[in-house]
Amino acid sequence: MNEKTLVLIKPDAMIKRLAGNIISELYNLDLKMVGLKLVNVKKELAEKHYEEHKEKPFFQELIEHITGKLHENENVIAIVYSGENAISKVRELVGKTNPDESIPHTLRGKYGKIHSKTNCHETVIHASDSQDNAKKEIDLWFKKDELVE
Ligand code: CDP
Ligand code: MG
Repeated sequence: MNEKTLVLIKPDAMIKRLAGNIISELYNLDLKMVGLKLVNVKKELAEKHYEEHKEKPFFQELIEHITGKLHENENVIAIVYSGENAISKVRELVGKTNPDESIPHTLRGKYGKIHSKTNCHETVIHASDSQDNAKKEIDLWFKKDELVE
């Protein structure tokens, strides 16, 4: 099925200069990039994006992480990919939520880590996990005219 999905290259990946490597691996999935921008993520956007986690014990940390507060105010690269089974294809390359449980060839297996003091899962990348969430997230991060299709 033809789908769109949202990818965020998170501040922990940006500070480690991994954006190029990550985008390069995403190219191998044969999806079409239909939107891309650098975002200085404000608290309000972060809280909307991670709304489903607002009752979780790690929520505060997660908001600080995605807004760059834990990584020298690094920004986020937001990308929309489009193509056949885009959502599951990207999630497969991403790996599991817990980087320590992600198999080594996945992005989180390679680049993710659990912060030793805070236990924050520094997962390097976000990817939409369902069609409903993909639609919601793309509408949240991109205006219609910022997408080429
Ligand atoms: O990112 P993904 O969809 O795989 O996982 P999630 O359950 O939606 O969690 C969102 C983000 O919260 C993760 O990518 C981690 O950055 C963070 N998280 C965390 O710090 N500690 C946890 N125990 C679970 C998630
Ligand atoms: Mg998620």
